[in-house]
Amino acid sequence: MPDPAATTPTGASTYRTQPVSFVRRSRRLTPGQQRLWDEQRPEYLVDVPRAVASTSVEPTFVLDVDALFSAAPTVPAAPTVPAALAGTGVRTGRTILEIGSGQGEAVVAAAAAHPDDRFLAVEVYEPGLAHTARRAAAGDVHNVRLLQANAPELLATALPADAVDEVWVFFPDPWRKARHEKRRLVDAGFADLVARVLRPGGVLRFASDWEPYAEQVRDLLDEHPAFVAAPGRDAEGWWPRFEGRVLTSFERKGTDAGRTVRDVTYVHPGDRA
Ligand SMILES: C[S@@+](CC[C@H](N)C(=O)[O-])C[C@H]1O[C@@H](n2cnc3c(N)ncnc32)[C@H](O)[C@@H]1O
Repeated sequence: MPDPAATTPTGASTYRTQPVSFVRRSRRLTPGQQRLWDEQRPEYLVDVPRAVASTSVEPTFVLDVDALFSAAPTVPAAPTVPAALAGTGVRTGRTILEIGSGQGEAVVAAAAAHPDDRFLAVEVYEPGLAHTARRAAAGDVHNVRLLQANAPELLATALPADAVDEVWVFFPDPWRKARHEKRRLVDAGFADLVARVLRPGGVLRFASDWEPYAEQVRDLLDEHPAFVAAPGRDAEGWWPRFEGRVLTSFERKGTDAGRTVRDVTYVHPGDRA
């Protein structure tokens, strides 16, 4: 379905020619929420120049990730391991990108728990971004930046190569019907784009309560030359639940409905692509 999202600088209507993984939803912010969003947007929301649609990304735009966080007080210049984490294998000063961050439950909780890491949250739905900013501000969390964009476009050109330590895709829209499967966010092309932005040794974490989607992602990453399975796979070929993910409302909805949540975790070794 084309995304009838915007106009060109000359005012002519333009459309995406490729299907996108989201549906356009109406903006539903109360006047109070809008007021808060107006106040919080300058700190949290990154300006993204547009191409054809309101969630598109102008292809010459390149994000300066360091500059985005230059106002955040606690980010070290380079990854370091504080004494408390020495020997635990946990690095800080990482850059983590969550794609389809929804209401921001996972990304803000992670940012609060890891104040020395930097979190980028990509979401097309503006009320979700507004809730995320509200959640971050309420928790005094300042190491997260929000991008309103169609994620594949951001991955393709705006993020520099090797810029990111982890990419998280938690509970992406499952597009359950066979005729809609082509709208799923994660496919081989998406994996190529993730491999471009992940630094060598970086990690792609995916979770879904729709097992056919998790199987599809696992199969394609098993075959993908730029990824190797992370250790810890169980006898059925799944990974343990990522302990850095808080329970979001989408995950709870899935488990309440009796579905099993599947985690899929791959590493980008960097020299195999
Ligand atoms: C089912 S929700 C899950 C939200 C969140 N990850 C969670 O677990 O609570 C999927 C989210 O992905 C967003 N989304 C879908 N396609 C996207 C895309 N191409 N780029 C950015 N966000 C997208 C949707 O707007 C929606 O908020």
